[in-house]
Amino acid sequence: MTIDAAEAIRLDKQSQFHPFTSITDLKTDGPTVMASGQGVRVRDVEGKEYLDGMAGLWCVNLGYGRKEIVEAITRQSERLSFFHTFNGMSTDVVAECADALLKRAPVPMARVFFGASGSDANETQLKLIWAYNNLRGKPAKKKIIARWNAYHGSGVATASLTGLPGMHSLFDLPQGPIIHVSAPYYYRKAPEGMSERDFSAQLAKELEEVIEREGGDTIAAFFAEAVMGAGGLIPAPEGYFEAIGPILKKHDILLVADEVVSGFGRLGTYWGSQTYGYEPDLITAAKGVTSGYFPMSAVFISPKVWDVFEADAATVGVFGHGYTYSAHPVGAAAALAALKLIDELDVVKNVADVGPYMLNALRDRLGQHAHVGDIRGQGLMIGIELVKDRATKEQLPPANRTGRQVLKAAAQRGLITRALGDTLVFAPPLVITRGEVDELVDKFALAVEDVFA
Ligand SMILES: Cc1ncc(COP(=O)(O)O)c(C=O)c1O
Repeated sequence: MTIDAAEAIRLDKQSQFHPFTSITDLKTDGPTVMASGQGVRVRDVEGKEYLDGMAGLWCVNLGYGRKEIVEAITRQSERLSFFHTFNGMSTDVVAECADALLKRAPVPMARVFFGASGSDANETQLKLIWAYNNLRGKPAKKKIIARWNAYHGSGVATASLTGLPGMHSLFDLPQGPIIHVSAPYYYRKAPEGMSERDFSAQLAKELEEVIEREGGDTIAAFFAEAVMGAGGLIPAPEGYFEAIGPILKKHDILLVADEVVSGFGRLGTYWGSQTYGYEPDLITAAKGVTSGYFPMSAVFISPKVWDVFEADAATVGVFGHGYTYSAHPVGAAAALAALKLIDELDVVKNVADVGPYMLNALRDRLGQHAHVGDIRGQGLMIGIELVKDRATKEQLPPANRTGRQVLKAAAQRGLITRALGDTLVFAPPLVITRGEVDELVDKFALAVEDVFA
């Protein structure tokens, strides 16, 4: 570091426009500026250490300081720091990475299209879907169904897909042929006493009604996260994908699995779709593909979709889509190293063990707390929803910003969590141990107690 802590904080505050940050909060609280990391821990410029309960932004799945990935990045940067994949160009490492990804797909997939972020990958998905239906002679079949509380990215189209009004109003979104249906938010949206299965059936009925109202021949695709992440940590209720799958099939609607967070082991299976037993036509992956060591995303294209492009190659001509950093060779090298580590460390097995352990530990410690309404999750995606009243589920006054207070109390105790309103979420590195989970739960419970004391 060439500047000291105070200078880093000052420069950041006066120079950087932060994403997803309140300008007012940044003025009063200042930025937290990180400097280093090892394993599940990061350290800020002032030397304070934190257990990172969010793996950065749900991405540093293998933890910080993984020499194997760092060395792969260094080697590739020295050998060939960049080459593109436009006009039929490629690099050896990209070819190997595409193959490695296809071999790990949950269902047979024909091709991978690379990008640099989850948002650009979902933009690619939309363009692929629209092109697919143009090529099939179905130009009217273009509408996309997403769900309230979904998070699919921050671009104009992907923020439109995203079902969070806070990401819409300032920017005149949503734009485009996008329809939102209800979130599968069992805790808040299911009528009192209704089972998860019946709630899923109700949501499937709503979906079918929307499709019939709009006309199935106008709807191209349905986007879904297995467990909603940024929209409030909402796992699919029992029977959800089972109930909606046949409806989508019946109306020839593509199912896009947004596995940006859930891919590569986070739910205790390699893919989120395997936890919930559904078969996607298209998959969006990012984050964990390089464990956050390099920006990279991958769109997986099923034979059903690819065959249409290949059969009508003459109409497609030069496929007019791509990014400078599509299939970056350094990203591919990072991904190959990360994929190898996921296998070697048996990360998926660790999540299958530690995930339920963490959920139980949180429930044991906080399940009876007067202001903890719900503790839910799957694998290592876990959310704790705070309420004013457990019995009625009445929400805390938004003006109190209780979630943010807990986040700050946790940070003081050396723990990073994330506040989605009053739902605090955890998505720690997938290599976290039971001992580290104990520490996380203890710090978090104390932070909750600090705030409600
Ligand atoms: C499910 C999901 N899809 C897409 C994205 C967008 O990814 P990115 O921030 O890399 O553009 C995210 C980011 O958190 C996500 O959680």
